[in-house]
Amino acid sequence: MKEEQKDAVLEAMHQRRSIRAYTDEDVAREEIETVLEAGRWAPSGLNNQPWRFLVVRAGDRRQEALAEQTKYGHVVRRAKVLIGVYLDREAKYDDRKDNQGAGACIQNMLLAVHALGLGAVWLGEIINHEPDVVEAAGLDPARYEMMALLAVGRPDQKGSSDRKPLDDLLLEPLA
Ligand SMILES: Cc1cc2nc3c(=O)[nH]c(=O)nc-3n(C[C@H](O)[C@H](O)[C@H](O)COP(=O)(O)O)c2cc1C
Repeated sequence: MKEEQKDAVLEAMHQRRSIRAYTDEDVAREEIETVLEAGRWAPSGLNNQPWRFLVVRAGDRRQEALAEQTKYGHVVRRAKVLIGVYLDREAKYDDRKDNQGAGACIQNMLLAVHALGLGAVWLGEIINHEPDVVEAAGLDPARYEMMALLAVGRPDQKGSSDRKPLDDLLLEPLA
């Protein structure tokens, strides 16, 4: 990888923040496709690619139905695009590994959102409301297991967060 590409990838990982407020400006279909493509190329155990995506645009009646399923409904209502990420039970092979794959897929999409100058947040609380939340999107809860809802739009806030120091995460000092 070229030096500037390397810097761009590392910077994107460090600078991406959760964005929960969005401007009125729309998100183009091409931008959504770029985000979904990033998710599609995530790694998965046995390359089983168990993830499935549901895209709900602002104004679709499913936006309000989804908003009612989470205490973060105000974020869902503000979003210009919602991306529901589900595991297809027919494509799964191992609970833990499929969940890890979904996490990789979602993070790829968040990084793509950031690279495009868009903003998003990974909404996880909403999955506590299964099976109703799956039905609210018009899907069959016997087949689709919800992993997250991504709320996406053009950033109307900076976003901020911090991290524990690396020393607190290392189980033994780095040699
Ligand atoms: C599994 C998971 C679930 C999350 N669920 C929510 C959520 O329900 N609502 C929310 O506002 N943010 C949610 N977040 C976003 C985190 O709050 C956020 O990533 C964390 O505070 C770090 O901030 P940053 O993303 O700006 O670096 C979730 C993130 C993850 C990885």
